[in-house]
Amino acid sequence: MNKYRIAVIPGDGIGKEVVPEGLKVLNAIAAKFNIELSYNHFDWSCETYKKTGRMMPEDGLEQLRENDAIFLGAVGFPGVPDHLSLWGLLIPIRREFEQYINLRPVRLLPGITSPLRDKVPGDIDFWVVRENCEGEYSQIGGMIHQGTEHEAVVQESIFTRYGTDRAIRYAFELAKTTDKNHVTSATKSNGLFHSMPFWDKRFATIASEYPDSETDQYHIDILAAQFVMNPERFDVVVASNLFGDILSDLGPGVTGTIAVAPSANINPERKHPSMFEPVHGSAPDIAGLGIANPIGQIWSAAMMLEHLGEKAAGAAIMQAIEAVLTATDAPLTPDLGGRASTCDLGDAIAAQVYRL
Ligand code: NAD
Ligand code: IPM
Ligand code: MN
Repeated sequence: MNKYRIAVIPGDGIGKEVVPEGLKVLNAIAAKFNIELSYNHFDWSCETYKKTGRMMPEDGLEQLRENDAIFLGAVGFPGVPDHLSLWGLLIPIRREFEQYINLRPVRLLPGITSPLRDKVPGDIDFWVVRENCEGEYSQIGGMIHQGTEHEAVVQESIFTRYGTDRAIRYAFELAKTTDKNHVTSATKSNGLFHSMPFWDKRFATIASEYPDSETDQYHIDILAAQFVMNPERFDVVVASNLFGDILSDLGPGVTGTIAVAPSANINPERKHPSMFEPVHGSAPDIAGLGIANPIGQIWSAAMMLEHLGEKAAGAAIMQAIEAVLTATDAPLTPDLGGRASTCDLGDAIAAQVYRL
């Protein structure tokens, strides 16, 4: 029997509501596929920050290191400034464990209606590969002339050749596994003088190593429009940390709801644990109401199993999600037009796993 140690961090807001549904489905899968999952629970959150002044203990990253994967809900809640909560927990995990790929599928699922007219499953099905450890996300910079009329801030971006190349190369390797074998690069080389022309140059260099792959490049502004006008066009879209962040909400937006979108923060070398979490955040506007859609978390569990080498188990979760979404009496949460609770939808997917 294959055994895995999973660090579980529900975090804030609806993270605390959707993570238990993810675990419910993981437990059903583990029973069905004869996998042993042991969970190490960490209650780190903005509440921890209010009590201790830290989002996680000083040795928090060390406590995570020995796990095979990290299963996270969401981080950030009103009451603690977002840059402190996120740079105190989520972002240090991504960086310490060199999770330099944030892999985010954009797929219209059966049973969900796209806001784009006439789109059906199959029409929208691509990957956003987001650089996840550097780029525009940086603590380098600061304020000068504080409190005067000359007050100014500087916010630096760092694009290393090493960091840029490994993200772009991952995108090409991923494209080799798809039917279209097509990589799109997102930049803004007309406005950002140094970083984006550098990215374009690295993209061209790496593309020349993959003569069988088709490529194209867009400035991020028109690419955003193309996501809405022609989403069928895309296969693998590779982007910097910030652009990838924005595209990976826009993509799920055109598939009907961001609440189902998953993500995998991957250390491809498997030297460190990878982390799996939904794309969405803590949703303070609905936290505590028991109506959050748990599918983003459950799909993230499927990506986790696939990463751990349990491909059939991951695929079974997706089959269960799709079967529940297309059932006539599907218990849908309000974001999908239904009246069911988080728990009802999680129960239905777990029950479907047992029926597979
Ligand atoms: P959000 O994703 O939390 O919410 C945006 C909107 O989508 C809200 O109206 C919310 O109700 C809805 N929504 C999100 N997930 C849903 C779900 N599962 N079911 C139903 N509706 C859902 O984004 P935000 O409001 O910009 O951020 C709130 C907090 O979460 C902030 O502190 C932010 O920094 C943090 N955040 C964390 C992560 C993360 O941990 N990876 C991601 C995004 C935002
Ligand atoms: C995400 C989130 C985070 C990010 C925030 C909360 C720092 O938006 O995971 O997409 O920008 O990476
Ligand atoms: Mn985001």
